Amino acid sequence: MNPQPDFHSGVNQGVAPVTYGQGERPPRGDYAQARSDYTCDQQWQRYTAAEHDLYRRLYERQAAQLNGLACEEFIAAVKHLGAPDRVPRFDALSEALHRATRWEVVAVPGLIPEEAFFALLAARRFPVTNWIRTPEEFDYVVEPDVFHDLFGHVPLLFNPVFADYMQAYGEGGLKASRLAACEYLARLYWYTVEFGLIATPAGLRAYGAGILSSAGELRHSVTSPQPRRRPFELERIMRTRYKIDDYQATYFVIDSFGQLFDATRPDFAPIYARVAGMPEFEADDSRDQTASNTSG
Ligand SMILES: [Fe+2]
Repeated sequence: MNPQPDFHSGVNQGVAPVTYGQGERPPRGDYAQARSDYTCDQQWQRYTAAEHDLYRRLYERQAAQLNGLACEEFIAAVKHLGAPDRVPRFDALSEALHRATRWEVVAVPGLIPEEAFFALLAARRFPVTNWIRTPEEFDYVVEPDVFHDLFGHVPLLFNPVFADYMQAYGEGGLKASRLAACEYLARLYWYTVEFGLIATPAGLRAYGAGILSSAGELRHSVTSPQPRRRPFELERIMRTRYKIDDYQATYFVIDSFGQLFDATRPDFAPIYARVAGMPEFEADDSRDQTASNTSG
């Protein structure tokens, strides 16, 4: 049900929590240089001037549209990434992050097996891909690159409550691996960490990294009348499939990061068992009735 993915046979197989698409091509990163925990050196000196410039253009495009669309916590923290004119050095970023929330960023060659991913999160180490997309992928890249991982994920790791949620998620992931329940937890990650929206006094805002690092989905997710937006509901999320190749059809909206963290407090084992016996929802399913509340 949940075999350890073999990244040599296809980078995305079975690594749903960090998967952005079912890529056919082999991984781009240099896995031969990675340590047993899949971390590697950033090799900052290897970035070319053109790559730094690509990072700058990606950063500027996203930064220009944050106001009114990204949550305030993200906007306040994005400055921690430093000057946007070049790819940040992970070691300097880690120093600042560690001072704020005891997290650090570590370089990885790309997607990594889920257990390795969970183990890093549980140790408050966030894996960041060390390579950047090609200029042709300026608008869309299938797998997470350094821009997605840094710009999308790292700012909120400076927020203490969100930082604790991410660690709790990693610990939950290690447990889910043993319970063959990674798929349910992957959906939780997808609909919160990657594509989550938050209701604020100023209106709906984005906090998910997949949204915040996307040129088009940031505005779409917050303002378009097209997608469905549902209040955060743990079991509904675990039963809802997601799209990896298009804007999300459904977004789940939290009230606060505290709500997110509180949702990870219960023992998920009985929840997994219950969810496993229930039908799933398609990504664009509009039904409000669920098997859990029709049966009382
Ligand atoms: Fe991501």
